[in-house]
Amino acid sequence: MHAAAPPLDKLSRPLRDLRISVTDRCNFRCPYCMPREVFGPGHPFLPRAAILSYEEIARLARIFVRLGVVKIRLTGGEPLLRRDLDTLITRLAAIKGIRDLSLTTNGSLLDPAKARALKTAGLGRVTVSLDALDQPTFTAMSNSGLPVARVLDAITAAADAGLAPVKVNMVVRRGMNEADIVPLAGRFRHTGVIIRFIEYMDVGQSNGWRLDDVVPASSILMRLESHWSLEPVPPRHPGEVAQVWRYRDGAGEIGIIASVTQPFCGGCNRARLSSDGKLFTCLFATAGLDLRALLRAGADDGAITAAIHGGWTRRVDRYSELRVHATGKRAKIEMSYIGG
Ligand code: GTP
Ligand code: 5AD
Ligand code: SF4
Ligand code: SF4
Repeated sequence: MHAAAPPLDKLSRPLRDLRISVTDRCNFRCPYCMPREVFGPGHPFLPRAAILSYEEIARLARIFVRLGVVKIRLTGGEPLLRRDLDTLITRLAAIKGIRDLSLTTNGSLLDPAKARALKTAGLGRVTVSLDALDQPTFTAMSNSGLPVARVLDAITAAADAGLAPVKVNMVVRRGMNEADIVPLAGRFRHTGVIIRFIEYMDVGQSNGWRLDDVVPASSILMRLESHWSLEPVPPRHPGEVAQVWRYRDGAGEIGIIASVTQPFCGGCNRARLSSDGKLFTCLFATAGLDLRALLRAGADDGAITAAIHGGWTRRVDRYSELRVHATGKRAKIEMSYIGG
């Protein structure tokens, strides 16, 4: 199957990238994503019947690929909480036309055996979230009881299994973990692991985001440049969210994701599928298109294709670019549900 010419949205952006959330649950409670006060023991997570089966996900993925998607990322919540995820990966890896199949995880369940199983199933690479090297800071950022060493081991296990290049995501929050920027960068120099520093975003309703909590990309870069000399690397593909920098001494690359101070909506080619089968065309969307209803009503591929095509061609989203003017009163969807 050759790659289709993808549908273009109202701002001429093609549909190229699909992020699939396989569960809205997570075993961490990062306060910037799933604060424990909101996501407590009584929180109404999606019931099992509401969640798409692997057959349903794979069917939708095939349709998206026929429409022009070339890149698929599995997210959550924590995707490795979903049982037998390897079987979904096997199904997805068999779809011709996917050039990049990856997974974002917090690393807590990624041991060497799991990493090898994911690789064997056909996963290309993983991105591991890690917000601090310092144990008390990590504990505060993740609100979990996990030792940092376990996440570092997960990163090594992924690299050893060939799930490369392994990327590490560090969400930077003022007053919380800025002091870990330089140590984390230093930890991954000369390892082939690419660390990305992410400006804290106002996703969802529950994290109590304030602009003051954001450490701007410019100041992240200044901290790094006070230790090492860096040069910019031009974007490798359209719609890349990270600005990439290379150490001039050859120690590798880092990325900075500046979605607050330097939004990148202009090249945004990403669609998001929630675990209950809703299609969102922006991380900050307020409503999604219910593909599960179509699937379960027995719609054929043509009808589902038309629905996705229609949803994409009507798309006008550019939330991050409009953020400065946004009222903050929109009922935004939580990150753990829509998938980062
Ligand atoms: P690569 O394919 O490896 O470049 O990964 P990625 O950067 O697309 O994905 P990842 O899941 O690692 O996301 C990194 C950070 O960028 C997370 O904080 C995401 O929420 C954020 N991000 C990813 N896509 C978007 C987007 O479309 N809009 C905004 N505002 N943020 C995004
Ligand atoms: N701002 C920025 N990044 C976030 N993530 C989760 N919540 C936020 C937020 N509010 C990150 C996670 C993960 C990635 C998919 O998104 O840490 O690495
Ligand atoms: Fe879980 Fe990732 Fe959200 Fe943290 S950021 S609570 S690890 S889904
Ligand atoms: Fe894409 Fe929405 Fe993020 Fe802009 S804010 S880059 S449109 S997901």
